[in-house]
Amino acid sequence: MCGIVGYVGGRPALDVVVDGLARLEYRGYDSAGVAVLADGKLATAKRAGKLVNLRNALAEEPPPAGTLGMGHTRWATHGPPNDRNAHPHVDCTGSVAVIHNGIIENFAELRAELEEGGHGLGSDTDTEAVAHLLEDELKGGGDLADAMRRVCGRLEGAFTLVATHTGSPGLVVGARRNSPLVVGVGDGENFLASDVAAFIEHTRDAIELGQDQVVELRAEGVTVTDFDGRPAEVKEYHVDWDVSAAEKGGYDYFMLKEIAEQPRAVADTLLGRIGADGRLHLDEMRIPDQELREVDKIIIVACGTSYHAGLIAKYAIEHWAGLPCEVELASEFRYRDPILSPTTLVIAISQSGETMDALMAVRHAREQKAKLLGICNVNGSTLPRECDGVLYTHAGPEIAVASTKAFLTQLVAVYLIALYIAQVRGTKWGDEVFAMVQLLERMPEKVEKVLETMEPVRELARSLAGERCVLFLGRHVGFPVALEGALKLKELAYMHAEGFAAGELKHGPIALIEEDLPVVVVVPPRARDVLHDKIVSNIQEIRARGARTIVIAEEGDESVEPYADTLISVPAVPTLLQPLVTTVPLQVFACELATAKGHDVDQPRNLAKSVTVE
Ligand code: F6R
Repeated sequence: MCGIVGYVGGRPALDVVVDGLARLEYRGYDSAGVAVLADGKLATAKRAGKLVNLRNALAEEPPPAGTLGMGHTRWATHGPPNDRNAHPHVDCTGSVAVIHNGIIENFAELRAELEEGGHGLGSDTDTEAVAHLLEDELKGGGDLADAMRRVCGRLEGAFTLVATHTGSPGLVVGARRNSPLVVGVGDGENFLASDVAAFIEHTRDAIELGQDQVVELRAEGVTVTDFDGRPAEVKEYHVDWDVSAAEKGGYDYFMLKEIAEQPRAVADTLLGRIGADGRLHLDEMRIPDQELREVDKIIIVACGTSYHAGLIAKYAIEHWAGLPCEVELASEFRYRDPILSPTTLVIAISQSGETMDALMAVRHAREQKAKLLGICNVNGSTLPRECDGVLYTHAGPEIAVASTKAFLTQLVAVYLIALYIAQVRGTKWGDEVFAMVQLLERMPEKVEKVLETMEPVRELARSLAGERCVLFLGRHVGFPVALEGALKLKELAYMHAEGFAAGELKHGPIALIEEDLPVVVVVPPRARDVLHDKIVSNIQEIRARGARTIVIAEEGDESVEPYADTLISVPAVPTLLQPLVTTVPLQVFACELATAKGHDVDQPRNLAKSVTVE
């Protein structure tokens, strides 16, 4: 939702903080601000709009140089995005500065109480209340960390808070509940951030913070306690990617870079999964095989693109592992009465591991005693900690708001899980599992091949930049791919786009077809003859009604040629694995069309990379 950076050490804090914010801008970009503590005084600067506005303001009027600072990129929840509501927020005396990610649910009560107590609040935000609460706690001296612990005890909702105080020189204090915060451990300097990308340039050593913890950051060291001040156990880890992975590397947009990185990301996610015994091993899975054998139902929860990966997982799990599988939008899951038991396995898929809807679904499943498995791309995030087991995707940092490489690696992860359960339950022989993993291992080369042939797709996208609507059709695993193609186009090009199961066409959506309407159709491999023939009939139906057909089919599929206004060929692969190659042209299509319309594909309007509120 918002991006947070805190620093204390020996370098100019402003540079460290602003560079860190640049790497976190994907988390929020409607305003940005910084605070620097120099010569016992706090200096703040904040601007509405993207980070560049703040940079320009700082260049015009540089704050005094200091070696302790913090910064924030905002994605508005309370109060419109303007200079006034941008963070940091300060108290009445200008001696406490606070930045915040999340939502403080009882802020209206707190605000009323503060106003009654004589505080003047200058913004519409929930965050500012915290600055004034800290001010009250610090009256007459006192320790900023103690004050933060007491204030956290009064807050309801989800928050990451970072604060500094002129009376506590050399100290930055952070706190977290249900919202991300990691510590970067340097040599004579330390960092706080929503995501390691903010400090990866300086250190790859990090500390994972747990829920309801307060961290005291000094140049010499880091202390972590719970909200009651008791020392807390922390987990240190080493980040296995470096700064180049978080930079654009010559591409105009992160999204282009991330699309291009997909062969590598798929390969990395597959790395080391087959043991010397030829069997599939998922080391981080942590759910004993015996417990997996007892599982009688799987429920997958996820949001957005990750939900589409879940829809594809259902086909693989039911086919290979022979277990019933439901897929549910995480935001809906806990508001119905899902039937769960200790033999239900709930799989939560989340690139960021911080999506609040997914986390709340996991907590609901935990209360019902289900087993929990996370699929996640971010080491040190909340989801893996809240699950019994985890399978990490190794996509590397995904910076562009629209998910691309994370999606492909999520598919790899769900295929591996389906095959692993099949192996454990004995629904597939060892050699069958091994053969399928070998096919998966050939997928990076297939994805590479798709990427090499994308120029006609880009041309097509540019030619359609003036259209108002595009429909997407698919069957079987092609149906979630159609949903994903439509989602990418909506979020990037701000166009009306819808995905349908092709078989549903005649039950309503066919009425939308009119002369020249672009319709993208994902065709299953010819080997699935019944499915394949049905979709060829669907293409004929829509074409007869004037649609302009854009057909994605495996190479050599001549049967679709007569009905395709544009034919996009992808390498022939097994049906269940086909989404790995059919999704890529749809990502490229949406990215190019949006760029042709002049949109910033890395930061689409109204969206944030990590949605840490419900
Ligand atoms: C779309 C997109 C979103 C995310 C969704 C879940 O391109 O990126 O729909 O997939 O917000 O995010 P994670 O996977 O981080 O839980």
